[in-house]
Amino acid sequence: MCSIIAYKGKNKAAPIIVDALKKMEYRGYDSVGVATISRKKILLKKGVGKVEEVNKELKLEALNGNVGIGHTRWATHGGITDYNAHPHHSCNKDIAIVHNGKIDNYEELKNLLINKGHEFKSETDSEVIAHLIEEHLKNDNIINSIIKSCNMLEGAYAFVAVFNAGTIISARRDEPLIIGIGNDEYYISSDVLGFIKYTDQAIFLDNNEFAIIDKNLKIYNNEGREIHKNKVQIAWEFANVDKGKYAHYTLKEINEQSYTIARVLNAKYDLNEIKDAIINKKVILVASGSSYNASLIGKMLLSQVAINCEVLIASECQYYKDVFSSNAVLLALSQSGETKDVLRAVSFAKENNMKVLSLVNVKTSSLARESDLSLSIDCGPEIGVAATKSFTAQVAFFYKLANYISNKFIINVDEINNAVSSLLSIGIDEIVEQLKYVSDIYILARGLHYPIALEGALKIKELAYIHAEAMPAGEFRHGPLALVDNNTVVIIINPCDNTYNDTSSNIKEVKARGGRVLGISNVVSKEYDWFIKIPSVNSIVYPLIEVIPLQLLAYNLALKRDYNPDYPRNLAKSVTVD
Ligand code: F6R
Repeated sequence: MCSIIAYKGKNKAAPIIVDALKKMEYRGYDSVGVATISRKKILLKKGVGKVEEVNKELKLEALNGNVGIGHTRWATHGGITDYNAHPHHSCNKDIAIVHNGKIDNYEELKNLLINKGHEFKSETDSEVIAHLIEEHLKNDNIINSIIKSCNMLEGAYAFVAVFNAGTIISARRDEPLIIGIGNDEYYISSDVLGFIKYTDQAIFLDNNEFAIIDKNLKIYNNEGREIHKNKVQIAWEFANVDKGKYAHYTLKEINEQSYTIARVLNAKYDLNEIKDAIINKKVILVASGSSYNASLIGKMLLSQVAINCEVLIASECQYYKDVFSSNAVLLALSQSGETKDVLRAVSFAKENNMKVLSLVNVKTSSLARESDLSLSIDCGPEIGVAATKSFTAQVAFFYKLANYISNKFIINVDEINNAVSSLLSIGIDEIVEQLKYVSDIYILARGLHYPIALEGALKIKELAYIHAEAMPAGEFRHGPLALVDNNTVVIIINPCDNTYNDTSSNIKEVKARGGRVLGISNVVSKEYDWFIKIPSVNSIVYPLIEVIPLQLLAYNLALKRDYNPDYPRNLAKSVTVD
């Protein structure tokens, strides 16, 4: 999703800004822009495309000045055009802003400002911010103008405004904004990756706070009172984000599962507090996308150790408000910790006096900071848009937690790790070659394997752009079987456990109607047209290993079909809008 970076210091701003935007590319975007201040004038360039392309064409890096802002946009209001790219100017061109979020009342504000003579250049909601500040500055000082402007904005925002005099202002409500503090220099970003290369000292702005960087940094609350905020040290591991020997981040992250799963299983978490919080309570698991799929496994595992769980898709929470009550506990899962729908569920929970627990990958994220207790899956930055290592780390965490509550499962970390490592080098070229032109894939599984079918289908959709649909295998004959003919491809997740016999009967039904089947199992069957053998492991832990071939299949199908798996079209890594 959109990224913000701003710089004020002794160095030339534009190269730092362009470099930071490249670091944050993984978040997903369609256009890019930079504005700097030189000789009391705002220099601004922006265009549609990747940072590299736009920089090459417009020479963003060449903009002069030691103060500047940059932005990558993921279109929400208005098409993907040069005009709609950020930064946006005020009419007098003395102010330029970049914005993340969604201004709900922008049409009303735009009309109001047009009636006062302002001219708009874009179709975005964001541009109103530049004009609002300009309008208030006609009669007021900068602090009051920011407060008045923010008070008029409905919705979510993190914005940075630069003024031709060299001042930078940043403000946030329900969108992250972090200030990096270097040696006589300041960075402002939506993501620590924007500046971690230069400093690990940061201040996290909280909702409704704003910062003014002039000669030095001052932070204010929404009444204009200056407040003191402590610096936080950020993990340097974020600085080292590199593809290494791999062609793509996605492939690197899939391979990192050879140790990330074991790391969670071996981690010395203090699980007592979370155990105390969930025992004898109803646990509402809330998450989106892959984190939701991991939560489904979490529910199954926790239910086996007598924890009463319900799983809600985060974006649906608002329609299930009755579930949010003070005798329930929220356990929110989010790799990024910035997913808007998840954060909204946290607000509902707080309104209902529920304790908020979370599992994140980014320890400094909004979700972690808003939780009463937050734990981390610690699998390092996940840059590929599709969740891979974070998914298995979340699942591994649930094994760990369930086993801590009641030592019921046999978790042999070496066995799991060996199985994962051996699967990372399986050859699937032949299968990929034969599946590369199919238009639909069904993935069937039962019990604990069904969330893996959902996860596999999600990966195939987002990386290879092939329609893939997961179903509990037993449901297939209740309707979807009608679709099966000679062109149908069905993937069956079928390891030899208590689901094996029933799932095997579904294979026969597909084959009888001419469908072709890819089996993923530890036992071969003559019914399979293609087969991926997974190692035999203790049956409870199959989900952790059977997902690996599905991730690799999706990745390799993307390559075969000539798509870049790191940056799936239309998608963003952190979905910070609703
Ligand atoms: C799928 C994927 C998304 C995310 C979802 C939630 O591969 O990456 O579906 O899982 O957007 O993101 P987090 O976990 O950051 O809340």
